[in-house]
Amino acid sequence: KDDFIVLGIESSCDDTGAAVVRSDGVILGEALASQSHIHEEWGGVVPGLAKTAHEEALDRVIQTALDEAGTTLHDVDAIGVTVGPGLEICLRVGAQRACELAQEYNKPFVGIHHLEAHIMMARLENKELEWPFLSLLVSGGHCQILSCHGVGNYSILGGTLDDSLGECFDKTARLLGLPVGGGGGPAVEALAKEGDPTAIPLTIPLLKRKDCDFSYAGLKTNVRRAAEQLAMERGVESALELSRQDKANIAASFQNIAIVHLEQRLDRAMTLVEKQDKAIRTLALVGGVAANQELRSRLNVLCEALGWTMVVPPPRLCTDQGAMAAWAAIERLKLGSSDDPSNQEVYARYP
Ligand code: KG4
Ligand code: ZN
Repeated sequence: KDDFIVLGIESSCDDTGAAVVRSDGVILGEALASQSHIHEEWGGVVPGLAKTAHEEALDRVIQTALDEAGTTLHDVDAIGVTVGPGLEICLRVGAQRACELAQEYNKPFVGIHHLEAHIMMARLENKELEWPFLSLLVSGGHCQILSCHGVGNYSILGGTLDDSLGECFDKTARLLGLPVGGGGGPAVEALAKEGDPTAIPLTIPLLKRKDCDFSYAGLKTNVRRAAEQLAMERGVESALELSRQDKANIAASFQNIAIVHLEQRLDRAMTLVEKQDKAIRTLALVGGVAANQELRSRLNVLCEALGWTMVVPPPRLCTDQGAMAAWAAIERLKLGSSDDPSNQEVYARYP
């Protein structure tokens, strides 16, 4: 079949997503149920609550995506679902339903690797993006530089030694009393616009380590200590009681150093790659944190300076949603590859 349509389902963390995507990359219908209001109260994702919310939302989300695409389960050509990595009990909700539907409607089935799906979104965004290319994957759970050679074929040039960047954004949001449900990144980014990025002195991580790895745990502590210090100077009880301007300065300073660290590691990785692989001159910026405008524009400047091209999906396709599962399935199906829905596991960790 020339053109085929795939239903994709994503439930690896706190977003219940479904989408119908055509094999040429056109998103025909999509729906996303956010659980941010549920997790807001707890200051982070609570797996048990997330699982229940997925169960309650999933069928409705699938139906909405199908309706918007003007199709039905009878007429989709295949089903793809995220099977890892992620929260096991959450992954299972989407995976079980997808396996049942694939068997009931007798459809080809593809189990999706969530990180690969984030990377593939760069190829949905830019149809001219050919393998191989370099990826910076920055999400709530991961922070990696990968050279990407083909579907299922990646090598990791650097990863985080401790926390991910998304986690660090979320912790900073919590420290400053900003909304954290659904991720604190957008709130930190918004407040940082009002702040001075040089106001709070913070240390750039791993300056002495000449490799492509990341570390965000030190910066996280560094930000907390600086905020506590400022609270003391201002004579207030905690960082939560600082003025809006002080908080904005902290947000801007944190975001700046977090990005400087990325720039430095990427610069090294790109220089290394230039020596090893002449074919690679494109950087794909992917994962939830790639929605950050400051990060997008600064990495664009870095790429231009080095004569590279940057590809980055629109912000709403950087964070988790159903189209990523559908598109990753399409990439696999185009190669004639699929999985057995009667025998599909989910993987909390998925190398
Ligand atoms: O990829 P994603 O939706 O879920 C995971 O696979 O982890 O990434 C979520 C992460 C959260 O930590 C969230 O705070 C962060 O991405 N994020 C952002 C922005 N939008 C989402 N971080 C910084 N700036 C943003 N605009
Ligand atoms: Zn993700």
